[in-house]
Amino acid sequence: MRTIAHISDIHFGRTDPKVVEGLAKDLAKREPTVLVVSGDFTQRARERQYQAAAGYLRRLPRPQLVVPGNHDIPLFDLVRRFFFPLERYRRLITADLRPVYQDEELFVLGINTARSFTHKSGWISEEQLLDVKTRVCEQPDNVFKVVVTHHPFIPPPRDPRADVIRRGARYIDEMEDCGVDMLLAGHLHLAYHDDLRAHYKAAKRSILSVQAGTATSTRRRGEPNAYNWITVSPGSEGLCTVAVRAWNAKAGYFEESLVTRYNRVNGEWLREKQVPVDELAEKVLVEHPPAAVPPKTGL
Ligand SMILES: [Fe+2]
Ligand SMILES: [Fe+2]
Repeated sequence: MRTIAHISDIHFGRTDPKVVEGLAKDLAKREPTVLVVSGDFTQRARERQYQAAAGYLRRLPRPQLVVPGNHDIPLFDLVRRFFFPLERYRRLITADLRPVYQDEELFVLGINTARSFTHKSGWISEEQLLDVKTRVCEQPDNVFKVVVTHHPFIPPPRDPRADVIRRGARYIDEMEDCGVDMLLAGHLHLAYHDDLRAHYKAAKRSILSVQAGTATSTRRRGEPNAYNWITVSPGSEGLCTVAVRAWNAKAGYFEESLVTRYNRVNGEWLREKQVPVDELAEKVLVEHPPAAVPPKTGL
């Protein structure tokens, strides 16, 4: 069994300091196999925001696998945006834009889906796609294979028209032959997950698509700050548990709020059991009621 702490959209520059400290404390008690950060380290890709994010990452468990998000490319500084879009990311977070974590049971690969030419949308280039295929296809069948992007492949249930990765069907068509088991993403500041085939009817392989909410940003979309604690079993059959750990504002700590278990039967991910939002989580939701109007700017 392997464990993944999946955090996303920490957005230094727009964080709640209590939540930032609470997350570090919660993660310090845990020893994930790997900590994944699926992008949007900063609010506006400014030097000081990057420095704060980099300092924070140094406090979190290792090993870490990170990818940039759309907010990690400058928006208003056009010279940086088009000529050195990820210079600060590469200098202060990591120079590796093709990160990999690997052991004998788990393989995790990160892809940069942020682009200078668009403020919000996510893309994968032909070169990246070939790289993913090559490296994922090389892995043995008994290794659990995960691909991390900032932009999600599937929309949240409550917003089916949300901004998902462009040309997703084409990427899936290429990737599924290599035995990808799970996709991890963020971006929409909502925690949700499903079998990819619920949205891509032509997809042949059952792949679990898991999104994390924003771990520390104040720009929530009606959900408390949260991250995912994921356990996976390698091999074609097995169990996967996605536990959402949400910020309890009243108590001042992160705690388990919703746990979903998937069982893979004959290659198909079946949602076995979902523990409903407990009383405590309901209280948290009441404290962060759903926003009436979604934010106009990109996440
Ligand atoms: Fe984003
Ligand atoms: Fe974000």
